[in-house]
Amino acid sequence: MKFFLDTAKVEDIKKANEMGVICGVTTNPSLIAKEGRQFEEVIKEITSIVDGPISGEVKATTVDAEGMIKEGREIAAIHPNMIVKIPMTVEGLKAVKVLAAEGIKTNVTLIFTANQALLAARAGATYVSPFLGRLDDIGVRGVDLISDIANIFSVSGIESEIIAASVRNPIHVMDCALAGADIATVPYDVIVQMTKHPLTDSGIKKFQEDYKAVFGE
Ligand code: E4P
Repeated sequence: MKFFLDTAKVEDIKKANEMGVICGVTTNPSLIAKEGRQFEEVIKEITSIVDGPISGEVKATTVDAEGMIKEGREIAAIHPNMIVKIPMTVEGLKAVKVLAAEGIKTNVTLIFTANQALLAARAGATYVSPFLGRLDDIGVRGVDLISDIANIFSVSGIESEIIAASVRNPIHVMDCALAGADIATVPYDVIVQMTKHPLTDSGIKKFQEDYKAVFGE
């Protein structure tokens, strides 16, 4: 399983990129709004930091296929690494079909059932984004959705990649990896949490003490 960073915060993207663990970035309208910057300005900056797939979503207020196709073309023109993120609706699927035929890569977002993922893949989505955490929030096991989609895609020979989204903690990350997600898109804080273990900290402390006892500082 690979990692994307799920944020529009440029400082976090730089830090995760320097760690060498991410190979892409996902954004959504809420994450862009949180930064209070213009969509194109922040997306361009992200493409200059990470050399990999960068998902930029069509405007939250654009609900018709025609509008999504127009915006999708504009987003794709920003940089060759751009992936057009499109919500899982009938109009969204129509837009995915047209954009895919033009060679524009898409990420179908807000997926909460395996049927939605299957439809998105058949429409031509490069990526599908099932939302783990938001299902957990309403008492439905999000990880089951990831494994159902992984099984269906494997049985049906579907090449669309599964991006586990709405990942909130390190247990989610492990669950996604075991369930067969191709990618997990995670916030920076979760990556930092994943680096930690108390035995790592105490091991470093002990090595330092033993070394200093014989060789000094
Ligand atoms: C990524 O593609 C999603 O937009 C994101 O992971 C949603 O996460 P949230 O449910 O924590 O807002």
